[in-house]
Amino acid sequence: MQNMSIQQEKIGQLVDRRAKARLGGGEKRIAAQHEKGKLTARERLALLLDEGSFEEFDMFVQHRCTNFGMEQSHPDGDGVVTGQGTIDGRLVYVYAQDFTVSGGSLSKTMSEKICKVMDMAMRNGAPVIGLNDSGGARIQEGIDALAGYGDIFEHNILASGVVPQISGIFGPCAGGAVYSPALTDFTLMVKNTSYMFLTGPAVVKSVTGEDVDQEQLGGADVHSSKSGVADFAAENEEDGIATIKRLFSFIPQNNMETAPVRPTEDPVNRTDDLLNDIIPDNPNKAYDMYAVISSIVDDGDFFEVHRNFAKNIIVGFAHVNGRSVGVVANQPSVLAGVLDINASRKAARFVRFCDAFNIPLLTLVDVPGFLPGTQQEYGAVITNGAKLLYAYGEATVPKVTVTLRKAYGGAHIVMSCKQLRGDINYAWPTAQIAVMGADGAVNVLYGKDIKAETDPAKQEEVRAAKKAEYEELFNNPYQAAQKGYIEDVIEPRNTRFRVIRAFESLQNKRQELPAKKHDNLPL
Ligand code: HXC
Repeated sequence: MQNMSIQQEKIGQLVDRRAKARLGGGEKRIAAQHEKGKLTARERLALLLDEGSFEEFDMFVQHRCTNFGMEQSHPDGDGVVTGQGTIDGRLVYVYAQDFTVSGGSLSKTMSEKICKVMDMAMRNGAPVIGLNDSGGARIQEGIDALAGYGDIFEHNILASGVVPQISGIFGPCAGGAVYSPALTDFTLMVKNTSYMFLTGPAVVKSVTGEDVDQEQLGGADVHSSKSGVADFAAENEEDGIATIKRLFSFIPQNNMETAPVRPTEDPVNRTDDLLNDIIPDNPNKAYDMYAVISSIVDDGDFFEVHRNFAKNIIVGFAHVNGRSVGVVANQPSVLAGVLDINASRKAARFVRFCDAFNIPLLTLVDVPGFLPGTQQEYGAVITNGAKLLYAYGEATVPKVTVTLRKAYGGAHIVMSCKQLRGDINYAWPTAQIAVMGADGAVNVLYGKDIKAETDPAKQEEVRAAKKAEYEELFNNPYQAAQKGYIEDVIEPRNTRFRVIRAFESLQNKRQELPAKKHDNLPL
């Protein structure tokens, strides 16, 4: 064998060192990870990024801890893999915590690696995707590890509204660590293998006496349906990565750009007779808003966010004539589409994301009002409802609103009405834009007169007459149209075409907010 030159020898050492670093905590721990039904950090990144696009940074960074025997072992890269790559050719910065190295627990050097890619993302205007799988603060590092979390949180906050931030939870995420995902724009959890909670089952048991397991306390199902902490619950890791990639396809690189255009064969002027028949004669009967959304958007393709949380409102992304839009729609088939605390905060957060990242808003309205009752009032439905009102009112992206049926009272105002600077507001002929429904209005206005009638038949006669009078006057869109509160009453079957034309006209919209340090959204 020929003698190797010193240069070749050094290259060989580099190759070996890289290969070792790629093994993270070693073969045994990789096998243990697989046994749990989990992928490794690098396997996740390989699925996420375009083939061959990953460029790793800080592969040789090592922890600096000298306590509890940590000085004996300095794995290259420590417990996180960071770098850049592309998804469908678009630049993205990534980090993936490596559970095979000290359980992915966060050291100060790991936080420096993570903050570095976040700085790069902000400087270069590209989204950040973080894949979490960690035992939390590295216990041996004490305050250094906590400081590391503090640094990450501050970076999350500074990046918010500058570049999109997506968190995938692919394993444990407990204690204060949960606040990084909570500060990002979207959180995805994987069913059965991931969990998020501030304090684990043992602490819960000792403090409150409650018996609860990890899944019940902070699993993907719980957070995607009860708390709303997770926007998505994936069936498995592959599904989770695919969902993140799909989300990525609807959003722009940063707050100065628009989302990528997706060309479509779906005709702009496609009409849909189904929409002319979808509203039931009985105003108390429901219909499915999903059918309306898929009829309007390109190829019927709707990507829902928060599918299992506050189902009385639907939010998600779609394309209209190739352009990405955020859709917000009341769902009459769940709680009659009423607005409540959870629906308000779900939609408010979505509207604010779309506004921050130049994604126009399509709002479909069929809302009987806010949910009444002590539970809602004690839970601050006022403050939470105000969030949605605020979000729409401050949003300067193009806003197109279609009122399909009910738009009563404050809920009408909240759902992107004209006075909240809605750009183009349409109504179907079945719209009822009023202070309240006919029954409620007649009770308030004529309740005493009706009671004064001694004959029940006469009572019913008066009630019916007054109801008819009210419906004639208010249960239609024409009062609003006469006063210019909506731009037009449109035939339902033409909604796709009208919506697209409205958005096309708003492409160069410019609207400013008054100068301020920042707003004071009701929290
Ligand atoms: C150092 C840790 C660690 C941690 C796990 N490891 N968590 N090392 N600091 N926080 C190490 C383990 O010692 C083990 O090392 C390896 O990672 C894998 O852990 P296992 O316990 O064998 O794995 P598993 O059985 O799957 O259990 C995972 C786990 C458990 C549930 C996450 O490790 C655990 O409970 N860890 C502690 C969690 C925790 O209390 N973290 C602090 C939260 S408070 P070896 O060498 O044996 O492979 C916090 C504050 C943040 O994070 C504040 C921010 C503001």
